[in-house]
Amino acid sequence: MLRWSARIDPPWSLDAWRAAARLGLAAGVAPEQIDWLEGTDASLLDAPALAGAPMSGDAGGAAGPRVSKAFLELAASVLCHRDPQRLPLLYRLLWRIAHGQREVLSNPADADVQRAHALAQAVRRDAHKMKAFVRFREVPGEDDAFIAWFEPDHHIVDRVAPFFARRFAGMRWAILSPSRSAYWDGSSLSAGPGAQRSDAPADDSREELWRTYYASIFNPARLNERMMRQEMPVKYWKHLPEAALLPRLVRDAGTRVEEMHAREAVAPQRRIPEAPLLPSAAAARAADTLPDSLALQRHRAAACRRCALWEPATQTVFGEGPADARVMLIGEQPGDREDLSGRPFVGPAGKLLDRALGEAGIDRSTLYLTNAVKHFRFQRRGKVRVHQRPDREHVQACRSWLAGEIEQVRPDTVVCLGATAASALLGASFRFSEGRGQWHTLHDGTRALVTVHPSWVLRQGDGPAADAAYQVLLADLLKLAGDARP
Ligand code: URA
Ligand code: SF4
Repeated sequence: MLRWSARIDPPWSLDAWRAAARLGLAAGVAPEQIDWLEGTDASLLDAPALAGAPMSGDAGGAAGPRVSKAFLELAASVLCHRDPQRLPLLYRLLWRIAHGQREVLSNPADADVQRAHALAQAVRRDAHKMKAFVRFREVPGEDDAFIAWFEPDHHIVDRVAPFFARRFAGMRWAILSPSRSAYWDGSSLSAGPGAQRSDAPADDSREELWRTYYASIFNPARLNERMMRQEMPVKYWKHLPEAALLPRLVRDAGTRVEEMHAREAVAPQRRIPEAPLLPSAAAARAADTLPDSLALQRHRAAACRRCALWEPATQTVFGEGPADARVMLIGEQPGDREDLSGRPFVGPAGKLLDRALGEAGIDRSTLYLTNAVKHFRFQRRGKVRVHQRPDREHVQACRSWLAGEIEQVRPDTVVCLGATAASALLGASFRFSEGRGQWHTLHDGTRALVTVHPSWVLRQGDGPAADAAYQVLLADLLKLAGDARP
């Protein structure tokens, strides 16, 4: 039997595999005639390359048979598996599709089909673990640069890297693994060779925060050690700082379950879809000092996926301030800086707000500051993320978080900064130009003052229009200061 060799490099490349498979089919080379080689591995005994096989013209011609999108998607996943047998397996399936078994994929009892699905499933599980267990560490001496070390079972780094690029778009990072690395410079992804564990920083201050956070949010009712070991295999534990806490948390779980049940009677739990990926330092700090119910909400909001805004954003930006604040300020949504830091009103609009509050004699540290929408909505223009107004559906989806904050803090007064916050609280029919600068009353009797948004003031530039806009904001804040409730 004539033998041919086909090299797939990199070994998970769908394009490389398809090119070889097309050649094989066009030359009528049967599955058992091909030696599949991965990457750059070479052997002196390699059969001649498949590219040299003469075309036979059968089996669908040079273009190969038409295969379904489902087959290509399955192949793309299967190729990421480390099993060397995946390459002949896929070719065998393709060969069968091309030779009269077009519907083979829809036969769940077929051994090849079963094997392919099992491999794809293992790859999906591995990808899921990578998304959940990668922990970035700060690179010492560099601003905003992070490195993570991760040991996947399969060739999934290229496949999962775009997820991290979306999730952590605002920072520069590298994910190193033994056979492949991914880099994000803030605007583009690239891949590199494998690395060593020692290439990634060993520890940083974030880990302490993560530990604090983990202890404060740990949900003992979900504790099921077997499940936990399955979901977080011991091999990952050594890279997870919170793992150091597990023995103590497991020991204390009984008492904490009782405490939690007592609390739940007061604050009904909302369902969380998934645990947050990486809590910000701000989340860790705030969760530590807030009363439980607000801390719990902050934690749940960190995993919120009720609308589409969570995905491209870095993190949920929950409200911040004393849990017994008398006044709550509500903005529209976090901006670029807020998205990166996890804290509301820390960017340019926040600076302007600080100035106006100062002039009105209001101490920011006495206020609870939050937003109508908790994720940053933006459009990417080159390297810049440009603010995009949230739609009604986002405000609607996010309203229960805001309502929860109001319920817990119970302020006497809320201040709506801009039309988005005003319509979130006073209804979509609220006419901003008529109601601005005036007191209104919410359903529960809380009074509400509506004023302009500091970003609107900033957008006026720096001429007389900007001064006038600033005076509007200041006048309303003075009204707030002067009208303080007895
Ligand atoms: N604009 C807002 O509405 N909220 C912020 O947190 C920052 C800017
Ligand atoms: Fe959830 Fe609000 Fe974020 Fe939408 S914007 S995902 S509702 S927290």
